[in-house]
Amino acid sequence: MKLSVTDAAARIRTRNEGAAALAYVKVFGCQQNEADGERLRGMLADMGYRFTDEPNLADVVILNTCAVRLHAEQRALGHLGAIGHDGGPPGQVVAVCGCMAQLASARETLKRSYRHVRLVFGPGDLHRFPELLHDALTQSGRHFHGNPPDVPLDWEEGLPVLRAPPANAEGRAFVTVMKGCDNYCAYCVVPYTRGRERSRSPEAVIAEVRGLIAEGYTEFTLLGQNVNSYRPADGESVADFPDLLAALVSLEGNFSLRFMTSHPKDASDKLFQTMGRHPKIAPFLHLPAQSGSDKVLTAMNRGYTREHFIALTQRARAAIPGLNLTSDILVGFPGETEADFEDTLSLLETVRFNSLFTFIYSPRPGTPAAGLEDDTPMKVKKARFQRLLDAQKRIES
Ligand code: 5AD
Ligand code: SF4
Repeated sequence: MKLSVTDAAARIRTRNEGAAALAYVKVFGCQQNEADGERLRGMLADMGYRFTDEPNLADVVILNTCAVRLHAEQRALGHLGAIGHDGGPPGQVVAVCGCMAQLASARETLKRSYRHVRLVFGPGDLHRFPELLHDALTQSGRHFHGNPPDVPLDWEEGLPVLRAPPANAEGRAFVTVMKGCDNYCAYCVVPYTRGRERSRSPEAVIAEVRGLIAEGYTEFTLLGQNVNSYRPADGESVADFPDLLAALVSLEGNFSLRFMTSHPKDASDKLFQTMGRHPKIAPFLHLPAQSGSDKVLTAMNRGYTREHFIALTQRARAAIPGLNLTSDILVGFPGETEADFEDTLSLLETVRFNSLFTFIYSPRPGTPAAGLEDDTPMKVKKARFQRLLDAQKRIES
């Protein structure tokens, strides 16, 4: 018999009554994954689990994984290997979720070489965790779930969230406003793991922030793969992301707002003006450029040119006093030449970001870029990476 999520949670709670059931949760990757980790902890606490930092003592071990680069996958697999080696209490359920759990290649690896993993589910099944855990606890065998990420999913409200209390988190809290990504940058695995874009209802976002202010949180980071694509359903009280910001700043209380991430092709003057106008919106903007070469930007399917990007940052700086502008740069995309790379260095000199997140391209299975010829030796990519760091260091000093 298939149980509803609520019934499954209730049954697990009853099982755990009087027992000192322990859970271990480890999160890899981005802030979106951290926020999902808080939901997993919320659901576990609701089912009567307490938490431990020792996986070998935990009845439920769960790794919320990242797949954005190979290195992230290797870190999760390394951790999983150590957990398998150390063992755990009888009946321990080791679960893997998050982006890696949605990737066919990684699922194969888990199936074949990590036989102690009993439960696997992707980001689209997060809200079903109690039901999936109940199956894993009560039925033998291994359970591999993976809602196809191209299926549009409803927004699931009402999941319990266990955040660090305001005093421990310095008043900071994540609030998810949208999920998924429809941009299909040629290098990126996220559209395949997190699925189509979905926006949360503005009323739900506003209610959550209002509740968190009352609990004593003072700094909110609004999360979405591309917050500028925030599009509530027709007829909602706000139409886009700047409107959502404006609605949030009108809430009573002493707090500040920031957000991650903005795609440069969708960042608007309305956004910058809204940020410049409202003191409660922190003057922080993360605008990933990825490259300064038009040829590479086109190959990456980024949807903007170098010129557009530079003009955008100039308008942002003009509209937002004291703006702290940060970016992501990806070095060594297939076909990147020395001249393309120099365009990236000159972009840094022109824009002068306040700080930078830098990455060496990592081919991801299933993405268009993984099929491109890549004749730049890793040695050259690493040297470019170092030159990028040096250039940014000079700019920051
Ligand atoms: N290889 C390296 N870095 C990547 N990123 C996304 N996909 C890859 C990849 N395949 C970087 C981009 C993105 C950030 C979150 O991670 O710079 O903005
Ligand atoms: Fe990792 Fe990207 Fe997925 Fe976040 S969205 S968990 S960074 S792959």
